[in-house]
Amino acid sequence: MPRLYPLLMALVVLLQPPVSMAEPDPKVGSDAHALPPGEGKVLVAAQCSLCHSLALVTQNRADREGWRTLIRWMQKKHGLWELGELEAPILDYLENHYAPLGSGRRPPLAEHLLPVSARTGLEYGPP
Ligand code: HEC
Repeated sequence: MPRLYPLLMALVVLLQPPVSMAEPDPKVGSDAHALPPGEGKVLVAAQCSLCHSLALVTQNRADREGWRTLIRWMQKKHGLWELGELEAPILDYLENHYAPLGSGRRPPLAEHLLPVSARTGLEYGPP
């Protein structure tokens, strides 16, 4: 058995599933997969992942003005460069995908989830 050991180890190594050959796209941040697809994704991935993880982006929500304010803040305090003509499509993307979540009441229930009384107009209760 001791002689077989190297052979067994070689088999274990050889039987590993192949490592994926897909190279990460060097043009975009390594966690760019976290961004939903859409116009502007590549810009956000490229411009917004150089100083911090894109998780900082994806865990935040704001309206267009909020995102603009944040960009100005990073430009003023953290050395973010002028985005120039990239700013508008970046804001479009952020506004579309990371707008504030709806607040207040939940949306109304679907018809088939309503209690029978609400669907038929029948009322329960003492006659
Ligand atoms: C030049 C560096 C740099 C670039 C490029 C950059 N940021 Fe930042 N960003 C920072 C720094 C520094 C912080 C503060 C990190 C911390 O608080 O630890 C930050 C924080 C944030 C935050 C969290 C703010 C909060 O309230 O905690 C968000 C969201 C954000 N950045 C979004 C973006 C977006 C969107 C882009 C692309 C347009 C971007 N960042 C590009 C430097 C940068």
